Amino acid sequence: MRIPTVPIAVVIAVVVAVATAAKSDRADANKQQQGGGGGDGVAKAQGPPPFFLQDSSDSLCLAGEDFRRCSVDTLFFVVGSPGSYRIHKRPQDDADVDPDGTCVSKKGCDKIDPASTKGDGANAAYATDVKLAKCTHCGAKSWNIHGDSTTGYVLTESSSGTQLCLVRPRGTKSARLAPCDSSEHPYTPLQLQFASASDIEAMSSPGARLIGAASDGDRKLVQRLLKEEKMDVNVRDWDELTPIIPAASAGHLDVVKLLLKEGADVNAKDKDGITALMEASIMGHAKIVDLLLKEGAEVDAPANSGVTALWLAAGEGRSDVMRSLLRKDADANNARSDGISALMTASVGGHVEAVKLLLENGADARFADGEGVTPLMNAAENGTTAVLRLLVESKSARADGGDKGKYVDVVSRTGFTALIIASAHGHASAIEYLLKDGGADVNAMHETRVTPLMYAAASGHVDAMRLLLDVGKVDVNELHTNGGSALLEAATGGAGEAMKFLLERGAKPDLVDLDGVTPLHAVTSKGDYNGTVALLESLRKIMSKEELVAHINLPSHSGGTAVMFAAAGGHPKCTKLMIDEGADVNAVAVATPEYLEKLAKMIEDGTVDPNEDPHVDGVTGVHVAAEEGHLECVNLLIEAGADVTVLDEEERTPLLLAVKGNYGEVASALVRAGADPNTPYVDEEGESHNLLMDSIIVENADFALLLIEHGADVYYMDDHKVTTLLQASHRGIANVTEALLNRHASSPKAGEENWVDSASDEGVTPLLAASSEGHVAIVKMLLSTGGADVNAKDKEGTNSLMAASARGHLEVIQLLIATEGIDVNSQNVDGHTALMFAYNGKNQVETLWERYSQFVSDAKLEKSAAGAAIGAGDATKGDVADAKKQELIDDGGTGPLIQEALKNHTMLVDLLLKAGANTALKDKEGHVAKDFDFQPDADGELLEREEKAERKRDEIVTADPSAG
Ligand SMILES: *[C@@H]1O[C@H](CO)[C@@H](O)[C@H](O)[C@H]1NC(C)=O
Ligand SMILES: *[C@@H]1O[C@H](CO)[C@@H](O)[C@H](O)[C@H]1NC(C)=O
Ligand SMILES: *[C@@H]1O[C@H](CO)[C@@H](O)[C@H](O)[C@H]1NC(C)=O
Ligand SMILES: *[C@@H]1O[C@H](CO)[C@@H](O)[C@H](O)[C@H]1NC(C)=O
Repeated sequence: MRIPTVPIAVVIAVVVAVATAAKSDRADANKQQQGGGGGDGVAKAQGPPPFFLQDSSDSLCLAGEDFRRCSVDTLFFVVGSPGSYRIHKRPQDDADVDPDGTCVSKKGCDKIDPASTKGDGANAAYATDVKLAKCTHCGAKSWNIHGDSTTGYVLTESSSGTQLCLVRPRGTKSARLAPCDSSEHPYTPLQLQFASASDIEAMSSPGARLIGAASDGDRKLVQRLLKEEKMDVNVRDWDELTPIIPAASAGHLDVVKLLLKEGADVNAKDKDGITALMEASIMGHAKIVDLLLKEGAEVDAPANSGVTALWLAAGEGRSDVMRSLLRKDADANNARSDGISALMTASVGGHVEAVKLLLENGADARFADGEGVTPLMNAAENGTTAVLRLLVESKSARADGGDKGKYVDVVSRTGFTALIIASAHGHASAIEYLLKDGGADVNAMHETRVTPLMYAAASGHVDAMRLLLDVGKVDVNELHTNGGSALLEAATGGAGEAMKFLLERGAKPDLVDLDGVTPLHAVTSKGDYNGTVALLESLRKIMSKEELVAHINLPSHSGGTAVMFAAAGGHPKCTKLMIDEGADVNAVAVATPEYLEKLAKMIEDGTVDPNEDPHVDGVTGVHVAAEEGHLECVNLLIEAGADVTVLDEEERTPLLLAVKGNYGEVASALVRAGADPNTPYVDEEGESHNLLMDSIIVENADFALLLIEHGADVYYMDDHKVTTLLQASHRGIANVTEALLNRHASSPKAGEENWVDSASDEGVTPLLAASSEGHVAIVKMLLSTGGADVNAKDKEGTNSLMAASARGHLEVIQLLIATEGIDVNSQNVDGHTALMFAYNGKNQVETLWERYSQFVSDAKLEKSAAGAAIGAGDATKGDVADAKKQELIDDGGTGPLIQEALKNHTMLVDLLLKAGANTALKDKEGHVAKDFDFQPDADGELLEREEKAERKRDEIVTADPSAG
């Protein structure tokens, strides 16, 4: 049951996707690189992969206390687990495995007082500095790395409640920490890039040193490397950078000069086609730009993405640089290969001066990208009025006959106008400008007739709506082609305040769109309480009480009513409100044929995933709430008298849906409210299940008890004839076993059937299973309350006494031999007796003890040897096995436990003997009981078969019936 509406809110989220500027352009290139390089082999075969944390705004990498040109020195790897990583600096040399190592750390170890970070001093406001320190340093632990490759990663550190984020203060290269929620010091998203073995090799090359020095602005080192080491001034590193590119990026004029003097290629490009001129332009280093241009830099050389230095400077609003470039006749109409022009990137960035310069130099304001999005739309996305004005009044915009409107009202292929985009983003002053001076036509729109008011409503922008109504004089009740209004879109967007505003302005509250959806459906499904209240108030004004109840129970074409939508969405407050206003909690959803047709078509078109929330007729509010596990809503519906036993078109009860979703509390609530505990449940594989049996298997005792209490069929048995009692006895769930026995005792079947002793396919009875597992309380219960047959045998002839003897369950044996009629000397198919099993058990424990003693004395010897090694300072060479041995010697628990078991086994042999066990009985091979006792050369083979049989007994009841 879905709510079918034109998904405007979704459309808005993908509005104009113009890359903001050079930053994202570069980030894109970095991402591609990451995608390609991430999977490569890493430097160290077993070690964690080394990575960079790179700031894509200028491609510098976190180096510790600062950001530097990415190199082997900025590689890190993590040790630990999420939430408490230590971030190690990668050692210079692979062989140099420094156990302590150097780690990213914070300077102080004190906890951070959030108050002290709120000051207005620029630097004093940061909580603390980042630095590299020994990994044992107090500030080195418990880092985490959050994020993904799209949004970027952020390094966080949790210290006594305040989470700290890595921040690179604007315009600096230093790394700081500040509270993550600080608006003053927003965290810096970084790109995480893994380095392959070949990357690292390239980074370690001598050329990389020269490039690093140029990037760091170390003129002396650059000079030395060029003069003394005769390094090539145009040497390239792994990014195909030459030294002049990072030097220009970082603004080192003297180094750039030196490199040019030494013959640097002024037009060298890196692997993304980025030149020194582009780097200097993005970063706004005007003097370097001038120098490069003077030295012959090609002003319009394009990067691989098609952008020029001017495009990149425009995106960052670097107007000084732009003037220099334009003086050299840079092309003001440059566009990236996807059609985004320099004018667009400047417009979306809100860079007034840059836009002005581009327009003055011939940029065409009409130039649209591949989707028909114009610079004006980009400007509307940002909302800077001055930029809108420049574009609207530009020569090119007025070239088409001089009518402003012609330019302003262009509709993109995606259905946007500048006014729509400004409205969707709620830029009030931009809307005002477009309406008043821009001459925008409020009726310019896509053929779906979704108006600027609807877009503003869907995103809840009240000021924008007010302008559209007052200045634009639009009709508050205009409808789009699906019959929806601004109010319906506000409701669908869950924008309660916008709904309130629209209702005050006369929006029709009882509108029904072409899918039969009302604002009430939409807002309850979103759970916006204020919006729902406001809507009800308006409805009351135009309806009688009876009419309101009818409206509340009006189904959409999908069959859903407001209370169902509220319950399906898990909104208890709205659910309650609907109930209080007279919603029929037992309304059943039945879709109209038109709806089903439309849905089928949407599935065909791929706009709806048929597997996600498939439509089923016949569901009620309890169904949809139970299916999603909304306990509060289920309870509200139950309290209001909802029928929990109703079946939908696919014969599913609410209980079944709750069980399917694994919502235990909801299932319990439904059973308490009268849902049938014997509801058959067929899973996806078509396997049939029994709720009681399943809850015993997953050992959910409380749910099993609830089911029994509410009349679950205790006599259910699976395909292997395993009964609920056998399953509960095997698993040792005493309270469930007790409830099953009590239910049986009070049942008419009590006298007729020997249910307590009913055995599985393998002949295992509940008593046998409980005895074998040593569940004393259950053995007691089965013998007393249940009157179980103490001598029952499985298919191999094994009885409870043998099973308990084999495993040394002393207390069980005491119970069994105290039972009247016990046959202590029964023999199984191999002729084995309980006494033989008891000796065999004792034998096994004694063998174990022998091995353990040997092991301990060996380990003690080794430990003293290891102790000497530790003394010599070589603690890291010890292997895991040694560590384990030491642990065993230190851990005093194991030895005494074996000894206690041995004592128990010895006692139970005595018990059996006292109870009259016959020592002379022989098995099929002619062995007597004593032959099974411990002796150094005991014949293991004899006993193996017994063990196998024992395992088989276990398997039967352990097997998960759901596995078939
Ligand atoms: C618009 O551009 C200005 C100037 O660059 C910027 O400060 C502002 O944050 C931008 N607004 C939006 C909504 O992008
Ligand atoms: C709902 O209305 C109340 C009272 O008018 C207000 O305090 C609250 O912030 C509103 N909630 C939302 C989500 O707008
Ligand atoms: C029943 O026993 C189980 C343990 O087997 C326990 O977790 C549960 O709380 C018990 N339930 C009741 C109602 O006593
Ligand atoms: C030995 O038997 C006692 C009960 O008699 C029991 O509590 C204990 O867990 C047993 N020890 C071992 C190691 O089996």
